[in-house]
Amino acid sequence: MKARLADLRAEDVCQISLSNLDVSEAKRFQDDSIWGYFERLRMEDPVHYCQASPYGPYWSVTKYRDIVAVDTNHKAFSSEQGVAIVDVPEKHWTQSFIKMAPPKHGEQRHTVSPIVAPENLIKLESLIRRRVKTILGSLPRNHDFNWVDMVSIELTTQMLATLFDFPFEDRRLLTYWSDVAVAIPKTGHAIDSWDKRSTILSECLEYFTQLWNERINAEPRMDLISMMVHSPATRHMEPSEFLGNLILLIVGGNDTTRNSITGGLLFMNQHPSELRKLRDNPELVSSAVSEIIRYQTPIAHMRRNAATDMVVGGKQIRKGDKVVMWYISGNRDEEAIENADRFLIDRKNVRQHLSFGFGIHRCLGRHLAELQLKILWEEVLNARLEVEVVGEPDRIASNFVHGYSALPVRIKA
Ligand code: HEM
Repeated sequence: MKARLADLRAEDVCQISLSNLDVSEAKRFQDDSIWGYFERLRMEDPVHYCQASPYGPYWSVTKYRDIVAVDTNHKAFSSEQGVAIVDVPEKHWTQSFIKMAPPKHGEQRHTVSPIVAPENLIKLESLIRRRVKTILGSLPRNHDFNWVDMVSIELTTQMLATLFDFPFEDRRLLTYWSDVAVAIPKTGHAIDSWDKRSTILSECLEYFTQLWNERINAEPRMDLISMMVHSPATRHMEPSEFLGNLILLIVGGNDTTRNSITGGLLFMNQHPSELRKLRDNPELVSSAVSEIIRYQTPIAHMRRNAATDMVVGGKQIRKGDKVVMWYISGNRDEEAIENADRFLIDRKNVRQHLSFGFGIHRCLGRHLAELQLKILWEEVLNARLEVEVVGEPDRIASNFVHGYSALPVRIKA
């Protein structure tokens, strides 16, 4: 093994037998010790079978090229049984277009895609910039605060409220529902059962059903609810399908961008020479945004099930097997990305990363996410804000959403 593994808790990484290696353990994401385990898999067993895990047996696909092969072959690798490693009990299952195959997938995706079309992004740009300036301008000076809450969550939740034309004063409900939707119920936690999760999400459904009913008899407008109300592809959804699509759009627009905003600030603090490079060359901002999204990889994995027997990376995968594409690992694959472990805002082919997936389910909101991050960094530079990270981040205990619940910072006045 490479010497570098010595820095990455080598005892744990190397001592564990490959057959017992389960990279899905959330605590390794929470304490940020996951990297060495993935490096070991990429080197020794890139398509790895884990026989026993809390989520049942599953394959881990850890190298860039194998992930692209799985993600771009939706006929052989289906998302219809779910896109996260955990199996949602049937009683709590919701449908959504990320779990659909063509043609229904395309019809529903097409229904909402105008919200992120270039013409609409141009319209949203000035609104985002105004909001970013207001948020940055209102941050405390010379004392510590939580960047996640005051910037990352605030900016993305405001955006989501606009996309849904959701009552602005209630926008933090969107953050709450998003967090509940991605929680895997666990004893002793706030969401301790699937029933509790469903009860809270039914409040979300109730709230949105009211918005739906208001918009049925109104003229079509440029918001996600109105788009679904007026499209033949979504007009007659069952409540559980409406809820599933709401969760998809809420989580898609929320956690991902939020954690890229936080990750970006953390990385710039950890790599001051990259921040200096950006300050000296502000035209690098788009490139820096792509690098932040690669380096963070806000969605650690997507899951598929084999619809047929298939060989991936030399391993025989059987029809029905659960296959997990670890984007977080593929984004650090040295064979595909030079110096993949380094954070370099001006790297070659910076957009060549896995964070948005590939194939028919490739992220719908990626240009909007990039736009929000670009404007945020432009305004941080314009205002010459020096935001210093003053403590360790609190990371989320999740193998799906790769992110933070807190990042203590201080702005020097
Ligand atoms: C799909 C990541 C922002 C909406 C996805 C997928 C990933 C992803 C990994 C699945 C790709 C696949 O299975 O091949 C991200 C990241 C973001 C981000 C890293 C931010 C940095 C957004 C935003 C929105 C959004 C802002 C909405 C406004 C969606 C939707 C899908 C999706 C609706 C499902 C697409 C489909 O099934 O056709 N995203 N996302 N995402 N994302 Fe994003």
